[in-house]
Formats: sequence, structure tokens, C-alpha cells
Amino acid sequence: MHKLKYDAVTLGLRDLSPGFADSVAKWNVQEVLFSSLPAAVTKMNLPPAKVVSRSGFELGLISLVSPNGGTGSTYNVETFLREQIDALGAQQVDFQAVVYLGMPHELIALSKKFPEIDLWLQSNGNHRPLSLIETTMTNAPIVSAGDRGREVGFITIEKEKNGARVASSFHQLILTDRIADSPRAVPLIEGFRKAGKPPTPTAPATPPKSPGASNGSLNPYIGSIACQNCHKDIFAKWEKTRHAHAFATLTAKREEQNAECLECHTTGFREETGYSVSAATAHLVQVGCESCHGRGGFHVRMNGRISNFVKITETTCLRCHTPKQSPKFAFTEARLKVH
Ligand code: HEC
Ligand code: HEC
Ligand code: HEC
Ligand code: HEC
Repeated sequence: MHKLKYDAVTLGLRDLSPGFADSVAKWNVQEVLFSSLPAAVTKMNLPPAKVVSRSGFELGLISLVSPNGGTGSTYNVETFLREQIDALGAQQVDFQAVVYLGMPHELIALSKKFPEIDLWLQSNGNHRPLSLIETTMTNAPIVSAGDRGREVGFITIEKEKNGARVASSFHQLILTDRIADSPRAVPLIEGFRKAGKPPTPTAPATPPKSPGASNGSLNPYIGSIACQNCHKDIFAKWEKTRHAHAFATLTAKREEQNAECLECHTTGFREETGYSVSAATAHLVQVGCESCHGRGGFHVRMNGRISNFVKITETTCLRCHTPKQSPKFAFTEARLKVH
């Protein structure tokens, strides 16, 4: 990341593989890194805030970790943040951004107490796509910092000379196959792959998002068409539901590349063998059979003789039918309409 000319990289718990501190020392990349994780955890003495200068503007960045983040650190987040803001104030920065390692709801509550922050980036390794979580009353966007570098976000904050924020906007670009890889990045990534990945640090267990266990090639997502032959009537009924047209809904709005929408308007988005904005996974557009029943690859390979589908409950639906997207959702009636 240093070689790719990143200005700032904040460390989370998952980055701390054994030997990481040694590599940092060896490569002298401490100047891009910052993190409010205690030194006892990082084994490095990284500052919790830093200033980046660009085009005549000074951008102050603060790293903040949720006290519930499993860092073993007990501290008062608000006092800590206040100290960092004061320190940046002394350096007369033009913009202030916070990178928060913690859950979105914690951050939303925190943002209300610190209106002077211009941008909040939320990250906690929960594999959420880069997206706008909320815009505060004072115009400061709260953005999920994304996952695995599959998107690029453009955030604009406009301020008047007196420091009052007047506008903000957020745009996201998904790095699909149509966007060529950077010739500068490719050799670095290849080199990294050849060197072998560092051992994964103990990651917090996250429950699977979709029904059905993910055992990769043994039980891949296969697409609703594969079910048509044997479940003709069900398929015909499903085809008439809005689930079967959920992707067209996005296309009509020109949002078919927006990761924020794909999660609920396609099948298995961001999961192994699931929809991934590529022609190879075009059979997984729509809210297909497997969105509810789970992966069907195994069942189809067994010619329907064996099945390992999950029991469908209200929770299956609430993953997408959230109060925000589907305020009137009533499971008992809705389940009779699926096919
Ligand atoms: C080769 C034929 C065949 C194909 C292809 C097939 N099924 Fe089946 N399926 C069957 C048979 C046979 C049964 C068991 C008899 C029954 O209950 O209808 C069954 C049962 C089921 C059941 C109910 C049993 C359970 O365990 O819950 C579900 C749900 C199901 N299939 C979903 C699917 C889905 C989703 C697909 C596509 C990914 C699919 N099937 C593809 C033949 C097939
Ligand atoms: C993967 C996400 C996802 C899951 C899981 C899901 N839905 Fe949906 N559902 C959608 C989307 C998206 C739409 C809207 C499609 C459109 O119009 O573009 C929708 C629409 C519907 C509609 C039509 C709404 C209307 O007013 O006409 C019903 C009914 C429905 N879903 C029931 C269910 C039930 C019951 C379950 C669980 C058994 C379920 N859905 C699970 C994403 C999902
Ligand atoms: C958390 C899951 C989820 C996400 C994320 C999501 N949708 Fe939906 N969407 C749904 C569900 C569920 C429905 C069906 C709502 C209903 O009728 O109850 C729906 C319905 C719709 C509809 C048709 C109904 C309407 O309100 O006009 C449109 C259009 C739509 N979504 C567009 C989008 C776009 C664009 C995005 C991304 C910016 C998006 N959705 C993101 C779940 C989602
Ligand atoms: C929105 C969620 C949803 C989608 C999409 C969906 N199903 Fe179902 N399916 C259900 C529910 C709910 C049941 C009722 C059984 C239960 O409660 O477990 C069911 C039952 C079944 C059964 C058992 C027999 C029966 O009719 O009760 C089969 C087979 C089946 N589905 C196949 C399919 C196939 C094939 C598709 C795609 C063409 C599909 N399902 C799409 C939710 C869904």
C-alpha cells in the first residue's frame, strides 16, 4: 500500500498477523500506518491520528476503535476522540475524518455528539460493501469503508471559508471486469500471492449470511434455471413473482452495478460461487430459489434424490425484508406468495 502511494492505512485486528510488526519495521511503512489499537496489541507504537496534506488542504484523520471491539482495551471513546480533535485543531486542519472500527449503530450514536467531524468511515471486517450508511443532520456522511477492495468510493465535502459544511456527496464505483487492473498494482499483488499469504489471525466468527453451509465446489450456487425441469409448477409460479424480476428493477434504475443494491436483488452476492457482477454469474441475477432455500448445487448433482436445504423461517426473509426496505412485511401472508 505504501508502494501504491496510499496516504493513510489504518490497522484493524484482522491485519495483525504474526510477524506483521516485524515486516512493518523492515519496510519502513510506519509513516502510512496509524491505529488507535493499543501498542500492546499492535506491537507497534502507531499514532491514533495523522495529518495528510493535499492540494493546499490539510486533512486530519483519526483512528478509533469501539470499546466493544475485542481489543482488550477499556477506554472512554468520547474522551479519547475529544483529545484527538483538540490536537488536530491545534494543527489547524481543514477537514477531519474518523475511521471507526466498530458497528454502524455505535458510530451513528457517536456522530451525533461530534458534529465537527466531516466524514465518518465505518469498518469492522463484517464484509459489508462500501456504501453510504447515513448522512448526519450536519451533512457529515457516514460511509462503510468496504471490504476486500472491490469498490472505490468518491466522497466530496464542501465547506465555506468560515468552516461551515454546505454539501457532501458519496459515489461508489464497483471494480468489475470492465475496469482494467492497475499496471502498477498487478506485479505487487502477484508478488504477494507468490510469497504466500501470511497466516490468518484469529478472526471473529461471523454467522453465514445466506441459508445453507458454504462448502464451495461441492455445493455451489447453481441458479434457478437448473431447478426448472423438475419443479416446473413451482418455477412457473416463482417466475410471476417480483423476486424473479428483482434485477430488472435495478437495471431500470441503472443501479445494476451498485453493490449496495445487489445484496438483496440477486442470489448469493459476495459469497463463494454467488453473484459477482460478471457474465459468468449472470444465472444468479434475481432473488432466485437459492436465495431462500440455500445452495442447490449438491441437490441438482444428486438428481434431486438427496437434499440439504435449510428450513425456511421468517429470519430467511428478514435478511432482505428489513424494516427499512420492506416496512409492511408480514411473514405469514408473504410466505404464501413466494411460489
Ligand atoms: C433432477 C430433478 C431435480 C432438480 C434439477 C431439482 N430438484 Fe428439487 N427435488 C427433486 C425431487 C425428486 C425432490 C423430492 C420430491 C419432492 O419432494 O418433490 C425435490 C425436493 C426439493 C425440495 C423439498 C425437499 C427439501 O429438502 O426441502 C426443495 C426445497 C427443492 N427440491 C428445491 C430445489 C431447488 C432450489 C432446485 C434448483 C437449485 C432443485 N430443487 C432442483 C428433484 C429435483
Ligand atoms: C435475497 C433477498 C430476499 C430474500 C431472502 C427474500 N426476499 Fe422477498 N423480495 C426481495 C426483493 C428485492 C423484492 C422486490 C423485488 C422487486 O420488485 O424488484 C422482494 C419482494 C417480495 C414480495 C413482493 C412484495 C409485494 O408487495 O408484491 C414478497 C411477497 C416477498 N418478497 C416475500 C418474501 C418472503 C416470504 C421471503 C422469505 C421466505 C422473502 N421474500 C425473502 C428480496 C428478498
Ligand atoms: C436490505 C435489502 C435491500 C437492499 C440493500 C436494496 N433493496 Fe430494493 N427492495 C428490497 C425489498 C425487500 C423490496 C420489496 C419491498 C416491498 O415491497 O416490501 C425492494 C424493492 C425495491 C424496489 C421496488 C419497490 C419500490 O420501492 O419502488 C426498487 C425500485 C428497489 N428495491 C431498488 C433498490 C435499489 C436501487 C437499491 C440500491 C440502492 C436497493 N433496492 C437496495 C430489498 C433491498
Ligand atoms: C422467497 C423465498 C423462496 C423462493 C425464492 C423460493 N422458495 Fe421454494 N419454498 C419457500 C417456502 C417458504 C416454502 C415452504 C416450505 C417451508 O416452509 O419450508 C418453499 C417450499 C418449496 C418446496 C417444497 C414443496 C412445496 O411446494 O412446499 C420446493 C420443492 C421448492 N420450494 C422449490 C423452489 C424452487 C424450485 C424455487 C425457484 C424456482 C423456489 N422454491 C423459490 C420459499 C421460497
